[in-house]
Amino acid sequence: MILTKVITSLALFVLSISPSLAQAKDGGHVSLLVSETGLDLAKDFLIHKVISTTLPLQLPEIEKKVKIPLIGKVQMGLTNIKIYAVDVRSSRVETGGDGIVLSVSGATADVSMDWSYAYKASFFHIADHGVASVKVKGMDLRTTVSLVGENGSLKIASRHSDCKVKSIGIHINGGASWLYQGVVDAFEKKIITTVEETVSNKILEKMKKLDAKLQSLPKEGKIDDNVAVNLTFTGSPVLDDSSVEVGINGLFMANGDGGKKVSGSISPFLTPRVKRMVGISIEEEVFNSATLVYFIAKRMHVDIQETKNGSALSTSDWKLILPELYKQYPNVRMMLNMTVTSPPAVNITKNGIDAIIDLEISIDVQNSGAVLSVARISVVLDVGGTAEIAANNLAGSLRLKGFNATMTWSKLGDLQANYIQDVVSTILESLFLPYVNTRLMRGFPLPFTHGFKIKNTEIVYVENGVMVCSDVAFG
Ligand SMILES: *[C@@H]1O[C@H](CO)[C@@H](O)[C@H](O)[C@H]1NC(C)=O
Ligand SMILES: *[C@@H]1O[C@H](CO)[C@@H](O)[C@H](O)[C@H]1NC(C)=O
Ligand SMILES: *[C@@H]1O[C@H](CO)[C@@H](O)[C@H](O)[C@H]1NC(C)=O
Ligand SMILES: *[C@@H]1O[C@H](CO)[C@@H](O)[C@H](O)[C@H]1NC(C)=O
Ligand SMILES: *[C@@H]1O[C@H](CO)[C@@H](O)[C@H](O)[C@H]1NC(C)=O
Ligand SMILES: *[C@@H]1O[C@H](CO)[C@@H](O)[C@H](O)[C@H]1NC(C)=O
Repeated sequence: MILTKVITSLALFVLSISPSLAQAKDGGHVSLLVSETGLDLAKDFLIHKVISTTLPLQLPEIEKKVKIPLIGKVQMGLTNIKIYAVDVRSSRVETGGDGIVLSVSGATADVSMDWSYAYKASFFHIADHGVASVKVKGMDLRTTVSLVGENGSLKIASRHSDCKVKSIGIHINGGASWLYQGVVDAFEKKIITTVEETVSNKILEKMKKLDAKLQSLPKEGKIDDNVAVNLTFTGSPVLDDSSVEVGINGLFMANGDGGKKVSGSISPFLTPRVKRMVGISIEEEVFNSATLVYFIAKRMHVDIQETKNGSALSTSDWKLILPELYKQYPNVRMMLNMTVTSPPAVNITKNGIDAIIDLEISIDVQNSGAVLSVARISVVLDVGGTAEIAANNLAGSLRLKGFNATMTWSKLGDLQANYIQDVVSTILESLFLPYVNTRLMRGFPLPFTHGFKIKNTEIVYVENGVMVCSDVAFG
């Protein structure tokens, strides 16, 4: 049962590495490549996210003594200044030597505010207040961040943000006839610089939060009580002119107790060009570290005591397949225990995933209360594996390509070799693989799904590894 879990969790863990970050792979066994279209989506997502979590954005109040012709000195103030809407029509993301540059051009924003003024005329104190709105036009924003790997984490090494506003249009509700020109003359420039500074600072603040989030990413992904995956970032992100790639160690390891370290040699792993938004490359070593860790944790074991319909497995079910068994132990409960006896070796080529599994099958019966072993068969299976994405789940399956079976021990007398083959074939095809595949096909939810949908997934097998290429979409 665990055998299957191993394979499924492989993919699971891979995708559970925090998505949307990219990096290099010196020493990494898993790499995540975000392509141009992926960066574009990430950019749109980021802009949407920043806007939705920032608005309404409060700006500092502005107060000033203003000289108004014919009236004299007027104390004017703008309070409760808020950007409540932003419209981004054009934006782009670039990668290169400086880092990742996100720029927005010609955005507009809507600002609401309260105006008030007060002055002394003859013996009266005159004051008034009301509301106004401001349309911010031609807002350009340029944000640059550089990402580096440090001590197994990703951090933002430098960040810059620059906001420029071309013009604003002020609309005032109510007030005296001189008010409009007074506000424009006295406050227009100040409103522009306030918007520019507040927006820049807000973006920097968001980057700081993002940095803290990056650095607090767990270095280990717990899969269950026994098994975890090393999520340590290896090196700094590699940026080219259209993509970002990050590497993580990616190997499976025993959870807790600093258990057995699995070391794998690092093979050169060619990343094919990705036409989808993201490409996750998983080296063969990752699969092998998984099988090793699960093997060491004694988790590659299947006991079958029931038929598919839930009734107890009986020697009578196997009357035709194993007549000798039925003859000696008619109508008693039987058990099939299957144990993997060495860590399965996974080999990935352009044609797919292959694994060799050493399996020991033990046939037991319930004999007057006691469990009695009646036969043991050693099997070497050659299986082919496929991975697939179903909805937002990663699933997979195994198929039998061939096997060799040897009876190592038996109470059933000498059985012919081809007869053993038939029995084992039945066990593998009707019990072992369906059992494993039922679990594999159920799949695991992918952590990408946080606000995203995975679509158009393509699995590409390459020499020594697998690439999962996928598009993602909002909602
Ligand atoms: C690197 O991480 C380890 C463990 O998390 C910590 O003990 C060490 O101080 C860190 N080194 C630097 C340079 O941050
Ligand atoms: C996790 O991966 C990092 C980077 O490859 C490595 O330095 C570290 O020893 C690994 N940790 C374990 C427990 O294997
Ligand atoms: C369950 O399957 C066994 C054979 O596999 C059969 O003998 C038994 O009648 C079935 N029970 C039910 C409830 O279908
Ligand atoms: C097979 O599994 C059953 C149920 O888990 C157990 O009682 C029995 O001892 C096992 N037999 C062997 C040979 O491990
Ligand atoms: C993997 O399979 C290829 C092709 O079948 C073979 O040449 C290679 O030796 C295998 N590698 C391992 C580690 O089994
Ligand atoms: C089974 O044995 C044959 C002959 O020794 C060998 O060619 C084949 O590779 C073996 N198959 C498996 C799955 O071990």
